[in-house]
Amino acid sequence: MSDYYRNKINSKELITTFDDVLILPGYTKSYDVDIGVNMGKYHFNLPIMTAAMDTVTEEEMAIKMALLGGLGVIHRNCSYEKQLDMCISVKRARSFVIQDVATINVDATVKEAKYHMEEAGISGVVVINNENKACGIFTKRDIPYREHEIRNGKVKDYMTTDIISIEPGASREQALAMLFKNRIEKLPIISDGYLKGLITIKDLKPEFPNASIDNEGRLLCALAISPQFPETSQVRKILQKIDQYVDIFFTDVADFYKQKDFEGTKKLMKFLDSNFVLGNIGTYEAAEHILTKAGFPEDKLIGIKVGMGSGSICSTSIQTGVGAPTIYATAQVADAINDYNPDISLIADGGFKNPGDLPKSFSVGADLIMSGHFFAGCTESPGYIDTIQGRKVKVYRGMGSKEARKLGGKYIADRYVEEAKSLPEGVSDYVPYVGPLAGVVESLKEGLSNGMIYAGAQNINEMKRVKIGLVSPVGLAEQKPHDLMGKY
Ligand code: XMP
Repeated sequence: MSDYYRNKINSKELITTFDDVLILPGYTKSYDVDIGVNMGKYHFNLPIMTAAMDTVTEEEMAIKMALLGGLGVIHRNCSYEKQLDMCISVKRARSFVIQDVATINVDATVKEAKYHMEEAGISGVVVINNENKACGIFTKRDIPYREHEIRNGKVKDYMTTDIISIEPGASREQALAMLFKNRIEKLPIISDGYLKGLITIKDLKPEFPNASIDNEGRLLCALAISPQFPETSQVRKILQKIDQYVDIFFTDVADFYKQKDFEGTKKLMKFLDSNFVLGNIGTYEAAEHILTKAGFPEDKLIGIKVGMGSGSICSTSIQTGVGAPTIYATAQVADAINDYNPDISLIADGGFKNPGDLPKSFSVGADLIMSGHFFAGCTESPGYIDTIQGRKVKVYRGMGSKEARKLGGKYIADRYVEEAKSLPEGVSDYVPYVGPLAGVVESLKEGLSNGMIYAGAQNINEMKRVKIGLVSPVGLAEQKPHDLMGKY
């Protein structure tokens, strides 16, 4: 008598999800917790990412998220041209080096310079001679007092010719020292007489000290990408342009564990210079394959993103019977990463309902988490604020929903099984409008930090070592407020 199928069911491990586990309290030495993490060469003061979804992350969200220390992954349900524009906006949003420096020709009049500065809302311009070299600085303080001198005077007669400048590639600290030593506020970057940029004291002392930045002080930029290698040279060309503004590409498919996606991505990784996070996957075997057999260029691969079917707008598991809930997938892939390449970061993606789900993810091996649900209702997400029965709401939709596929169509066809055109794998709905991102991030940070304090972990690595237990259905019910009159 065969027991193959009975064993198939009876000997299986439990596929757990967030509510199934609870972290056990640990010995707390200090309330000082550090939630910062590294991924590849990048540092994040906030181990949180916003999902690559068209109702979650476009440039406004990506900029704000990076300013707050995390990362927003720009979606791909649009043209490459639009993606390029969004990436340029992120890269230009903040830098301690200004590239498009306002200049004026040496033969310009004082009146022209004054108008130019007022129009641009700046207090000074670099003066350029007819050989295109920097030859002076003209600021509002150099504008003569008398009206007729303003009218008829030339910039060259009033500018400062002794330019204090710095060489390209100077560090933030070198620039700060130079500005302080000379008691100036602006420092042109000059090489062989040619103007290469400008550093200002304002940009060196940022309002957002936790921002996720590259080594030029620009915000980190992440973009979702199809795992397929583009067929046309036109698309390849624009991808190369995009590559100049992106730090990390995220392959963006529901299930990355496919030969076709592996082959396409290998080509992309050779073709593009930026780093890659691969995903989504959900099992030890898929991670083992990626890390040992697939042959992805090791210098480019910095992370793996996991979770399938857990998202609040997902219906993949319902529609197809296949899935890997985020906490289960995280534990699976974390073991493979430990076994084969501990330098790779793990991103737990989707299914987060409460701030307490964050510490749970880290306790089973995640380095960072990604959510759409927490952020779709923020001011910074794309879309309008609507009102339903007096409540402010915003639309949140799965990338496999009918609505998202109708809008982008061809752009995300390969996020799911291309042939399954009529089977939606996500839904579209409303979520409450929750105000600016900063407030949401603050609550998540508090949930995470307090969870770490209770668990006795002072950083994310220690968090990976805390003890967890499985919760019975009765235990789960007890975690929520209960036995109250429910009047308020
Ligand atoms: P949350 O729980 O934050 O999940 O809403 C966001 C993650 O869900 C994935 N995603 C989808 N999965 N059908 C799916 O099965 C979809 O239509 C869909 N859209 C997004 C994605 O990984 C995202 O980060």
